[in-house]
Amino acid sequence: MPIAVAGAGYVGLTTAACLCELGHQVTLLEIDVERVARLKRGESPIFEPGLDALLQRHLGRALKVTTDLSEALDGAEMLIACVGTPPTASGAPNLSALWRLLGDLRRQRRSGELTVVVKSTVPPGTNRRAQQRLGAGFAVVSNPEFLREGTAIHDFFHPDRIVVGAAQPAAARQVAALYRGIDAPVVVTGWEEAELIKYASNAFLAVKLSFTNEVAAVADSLGADGLTVLRGVGLDRRIGPHFLAPGPGYGGSCLPKDLAALRWTARRRRVRLDLLPAAERANRRQRQRMLAKLGPVAGKRIAVWGLAFKAGTDDVRESPALEIIPALLAQGARVVAHDPEARRTFAAALTGAGVQREGSASASTGVPPSGAGLPGGFTLVDEMWEAARGADALLVLTEWPEYAAAPPEAIRTALAGDLVVDARNLFDPEAMAAAGLRYRGVGRDRGFHPPA
Ligand code: UGA
Repeated sequence: MPIAVAGAGYVGLTTAACLCELGHQVTLLEIDVERVARLKRGESPIFEPGLDALLQRHLGRALKVTTDLSEALDGAEMLIACVGTPPTASGAPNLSALWRLLGDLRRQRRSGELTVVVKSTVPPGTNRRAQQRLGAGFAVVSNPEFLREGTAIHDFFHPDRIVVGAAQPAAARQVAALYRGIDAPVVVTGWEEAELIKYASNAFLAVKLSFTNEVAAVADSLGADGLTVLRGVGLDRRIGPHFLAPGPGYGGSCLPKDLAALRWTARRRRVRLDLLPAAERANRRQRQRMLAKLGPVAGKRIAVWGLAFKAGTDDVRESPALEIIPALLAQGARVVAHDPEARRTFAAALTGAGVQREGSASASTGVPPSGAGLPGGFTLVDEMWEAARGADALLVLTEWPEYAAAPPEAIRTALAGDLVVDARNLFDPEAMAAAGLRYRGVGRDRGFHPPA
């Protein structure tokens, strides 16, 4: 099926490349001229494992890229909107890119019906408004995405479900047919239900993680093994074993944003929500707990392994490192940090350079930032052992495999001090102790009581 995909961010790029893989003809529409030029050269503007190979296979063949809407719509039966909906201070997402796109569509449209699929994450009621704005000749369908950064390609082909929200059964069938060949239940529903499924799913995941982190804190205080506790809890099929790994608190561009947007949606309708603000508070407290595990840091040199909000991405949006590192510096520590992919994006975020992730990501494949504009006392290094060498303590914030593979003896040799705070539980506490390290995990930190 000939399809236009609007927006070459991580959702749009992944969707476009994977739809080609399913046999569709896709034209990717992107307004950023520079990004289009890079794509045309075969360079992916974001770091997403497996995406480069798919782009190379399809670019210039099933996949075309353009900045021109009329070219994208030429012959297309469907347009999939994957434009960004970034958060605003009120919690409401900024929908201006979506409205701009729909306005352009209305002006451009030729004869015949066009199905407009909204994949961008939008508050309940948005698809209905989109249909009103577009009017006759357009069928709006909500089709939220559930892709995780870092495993987006795998998630596209192995989804737990496909959600299609529409007012017209024929349009719903057309969108469901996009995914023919993928084995997953299809939930066909109305617009608001589809929109709310997306928000409720991410909000539930955030609540589950905050709960997990609180159980880990109680286990720490009891000297109990929190990971065994959570495994025992997760074996209950009603709870499930996933999303029960304690850590430094959730981050990324989705969970925090969608939780805030669901709160905003409820507020506007005067529905009181108690659980979601508590989950947000618990997440902030979790960052503080990681700091407390380091103890007093004034005058110390702290090595940080991991800047991305999770492994497999260069994304630092709402990353624990963005809160924890400035807090360490404010307390008078010197910080030497490493990340295999996210050094450039982190430097841009820290200096407030406002470089969009998509705009800077492909350069983050190992090129160190210049260091200009970084706060005093903060150094970014290219190599993980360079960060650890001579540090008083090591703080592990992202679960990159190369960190997990570090031998405890080598960590002991590299550090000047002996404290390792492992916010991702990558290491075996006994092996770390045997190497002469003081080891503090999350839910594996015997008798640890943070200050109230
Ligand atoms: C999340 C959802 O998982 C996707 O289904 C959704 O499509 C996406 O948001 C979105 O709305 O676009 P993502 O933000 O890429 O995906 O990352 P997750 O893998 O869900 O991780 C979120 C955060 O939770 C990360 O900070 C991660 O480190 C943390 N996490 C996750 C834990 O601390 N423990 C866990 O057991 C799992």
